[in-house]
Amino acid sequence: MLRAFSRQMAHGKRSTLSLLSSLPTAPRLSTMAIELVPLPLPASADPSKFQNFGREVRGVDAGNLTEEDLKQIEDALYKYDALLFRNADVTPEQQYRITKHFDPTSENYGHGNNKTGETKKSILHPDLKTIPSVPQVQLIGNGTVYDHWGLAEAKLKHPSHTSFHKTVVSDEDAEKGVTRFYRWHIDAALYDLNPPKVTTLYGVKVPEGPAQVCRYDDGTGDELTLPLGTTAFVSGRTMFDILPTEYKSLAVRAKVKYAPHPYVWMAPAKAMSTGLGIESDGLELPLDELPAWEEGKIKVLPVLWKNPVTGGLHFQVHPCGAKELIVSPLPEGASREGALYPDGAHITDLKEVRDILYKMQRPAIAPSLVYPHDWRPKDLVLFHNRGVLHTVVGAFKAETIRAFHQCNLAASAEPVGPSEEDIKQWA
Ligand SMILES: [Fe+2]
Repeated sequence: MLRAFSRQMAHGKRSTLSLLSSLPTAPRLSTMAIELVPLPLPASADPSKFQNFGREVRGVDAGNLTEEDLKQIEDALYKYDALLFRNADVTPEQQYRITKHFDPTSENYGHGNNKTGETKKSILHPDLKTIPSVPQVQLIGNGTVYDHWGLAEAKLKHPSHTSFHKTVVSDEDAEKGVTRFYRWHIDAALYDLNPPKVTTLYGVKVPEGPAQVCRYDDGTGDELTLPLGTTAFVSGRTMFDILPTEYKSLAVRAKVKYAPHPYVWMAPAKAMSTGLGIESDGLELPLDELPAWEEGKIKVLPVLWKNPVTGGLHFQVHPCGAKELIVSPLPEGASREGALYPDGAHITDLKEVRDILYKMQRPAIAPSLVYPHDWRPKDLVLFHNRGVLHTVVGAFKAETIRAFHQCNLAASAEPVGPSEEDIKQWA
């Protein structure tokens, strides 16, 4: 059923993308104006689903953006969810400044600036190395990097599905370049800290190599040919838009309660073959074995997050960290016919929670709905972390060097959920 659903959602008609769209520009000293150009899509993507997704920003120097540039870029980010600057020269300080523009009072990295101590057991711990002079910027990648922005030596390891998924591709297939989505996620601590509004990713060293085949291995036969070491994105807006009516009604009424210290909680558990959540085998760390936690710091977040510029609703759930679902009853006057949980519900059975979320999220990671970014050196990508899900893909040899700078900031406020009008419209 899922497959038929995905297929049904994916066969939009191909349309010609407009080649250029210019934003209105304020008076500038320079003669250059910001241009927004649609990102090139791979043959696997359905262009009709990407008309409002992804733009290359041209005409500005990413390292020296004016306040006026930043305002236009902020507006464009919320409209298009992912922005690319090619051949950008940006220092960690400049990258931090761009990131901070989206939330000027935020100071801390999305997972907190101090990632030692109690979070040592977190599954994220080995993936991040902090740039000493700008602790909000992390060095991520693969291989050993020397003398890098104050880091004498950094041993990096590209996350691999082989350490996270319950099943893995065979060595023989891996040798042929078969891989998987590692983990679909939002960049967010999901405990105490608020999900960052934007994440910036800068490719310092980008290895070249043959394309890889990402297999879903979920019985659908879905697979996708992807550039080596791509970052894959799907739109949370599309994730909502393609849901059938009864699931739209559920989504607009639902909140997710995340586990305390979710990355420590999930560390012993294993993921699904699509990287879209955890297998329910009861392996999560019991709550009394977690580092100290308080009920008040647990995150309960709406399933749908409202875009501050377009007003659109984005399905933003980190499936791995979700623990419970809280569903409000249908509003007065809404039709009960076919409605799921018309009287509301508090779903605490972990498998049931995950099954419901998977049913709603899986259609949106269909091959035709994935934008895999084909990294070039000095690419700077800004993505709307409250509007997309993303994942690392692929596998590198131990000696292959890949170095990226990543920055996001724990937000000053929680994401905003659906308005009363949204609930009336969709419930
Ligand atoms: Fe991420």
